[in-house]
Amino acid sequence: MTTPPRVAVDDRVPAPAGSVLAIRGGRPLRGRVDVKGAKNLATKAMVATLLGETASTLRDVPDLSDVAVVRSLLEVHGVTVTEGDEPGSLVLDPSEVESAHYEEIDAHAGASRIPILFCGPLLHRLGQAFIPDLGGCRIGDRPIDFHLDALRKFGAVVEKQPSGIRLSAPNGLKGANIHLPYPSVGATEQVLLTAVRAQGVTELRNAAIEPEIMDLIAVLQKMGAIISYEPNRVILIEGVETLRGYDHRAIFDRNEAASWACAALATDGEIFVAGAKQQEMLTFLNVFRKAGGWFDVQEDGILFRREGELKPVIVETDVHPGFMTDWQQPLIVALTQAKGRSIVHETVYENRFGFTQALVKMGADIEVYPHGLQDGPRRVPRRELEQAAVITGPTPLHAADIVVPDLRGGYSHVIAALAAEGESQVSGVDILSRGYEKFLDKLSALGADFDVVR
Ligand code: EPU
Repeated sequence: MTTPPRVAVDDRVPAPAGSVLAIRGGRPLRGRVDVKGAKNLATKAMVATLLGETASTLRDVPDLSDVAVVRSLLEVHGVTVTEGDEPGSLVLDPSEVESAHYEEIDAHAGASRIPILFCGPLLHRLGQAFIPDLGGCRIGDRPIDFHLDALRKFGAVVEKQPSGIRLSAPNGLKGANIHLPYPSVGATEQVLLTAVRAQGVTELRNAAIEPEIMDLIAVLQKMGAIISYEPNRVILIEGVETLRGYDHRAIFDRNEAASWACAALATDGEIFVAGAKQQEMLTFLNVFRKAGGWFDVQEDGILFRREGELKPVIVETDVHPGFMTDWQQPLIVALTQAKGRSIVHETVYENRFGFTQALVKMGADIEVYPHGLQDGPRRVPRRELEQAAVITGPTPLHAADIVVPDLRGGYSHVIAALAAEGESQVSGVDILSRGYEKFLDKLSALGADFDVVR
């Protein structure tokens, strides 16, 4: 398993401010954090504004680098983005949408995965689109074949170029019958954002049904779209000629909420996650409880802490309503302190255990099986790319110098350093600004003992 290349702690390489932390662990995290709108909804709802004739207002937009990338890419296409009438709200006005210069688009290459979702909306608005090379966490191959196959079914002409993808729709976009090979979140969003203004009806089978997708459907319905959700992962979309702007408050970030819950578990602390809601976290809460966690669902958030000894669990990551792949990394840090053997099967991405190497360096007993475990019947059918991690605990964690590999893995490294005895140096922490708003402020508010080295 390869760990993506990252900048090591090295005086010759200038690091962005807040990228290297000296963390003194062994102190429980206690207090309150506020979780705002989900990264994985807000960025897509921002793209949806391109489809409207009038301005949209998005509320609870998190201050994250992915949001900044999408905002900038919208702006180079002529969308005017201004602050709204309350903190964290944005008004996005698409009335002057125009083709952007290649250089302006290319400046966003490698920065995020969201630009792939500009395809349908730009084809509807301009009849053509150029999408720069994609970025995002290196947690597997992350192909876009489902996206491109779906776009071709709508009638788009897709041309792969050395620095991106050029698309056109010489005969307009028409509704299509699409069966996804896997319920991909991104491909489902691609279909939704394209079908709402395509001519005729689109039937999407094997769709992803994550709460963030349901929230995107709510956004599109506010804009005038006609979308129905049928049993068995089927979504029907009747194309309409025009859409208007929306006013919408983004669904809360369940990935961030789960991360802080695991931080409470791993450091034996107590964290109130304001803004967290139960319905979207049912699966997480079950596993949290089985692992020895205690929670109290309150009107404005959820309180998380340990209840006695941590216990081992067996978890399979899966598409919704299963246990999300983005939750396993912080959970594994807590499981290093559980008495016995836990198993985490990763079924969504093929390279999402690289972060465990740093935990092993800190004293954890984790064995990764790159081709999965052949161990008896499973709820989730085995996928080719599957891997498993076996965590045996409890093992005391000790300080180490570590370099974070990606967003969720990086979060787990910070939590491990906070749970470990001694002072760790954790570098590359700036990547966390992709998914954790005001991360260092929140750590301070929870009583974490750390310095920003640079
Ligand atoms: N896949 C393909 N071909 C495609 C698209 C996907 O083979 O064309 C495969 C992927 O390689 C992967 C699986 O399908 O094995 C699932 O990928 P999916 O498309 O569902 O993921 P995504 O849309 O790229 C979003 C989130 C991820 C989250 C996954 C799964 C965003 C921006 N990203 O990714 O979030 O892990 O869904 O829920 O919404 C994160 O927030 O850190 C993050 C990685």
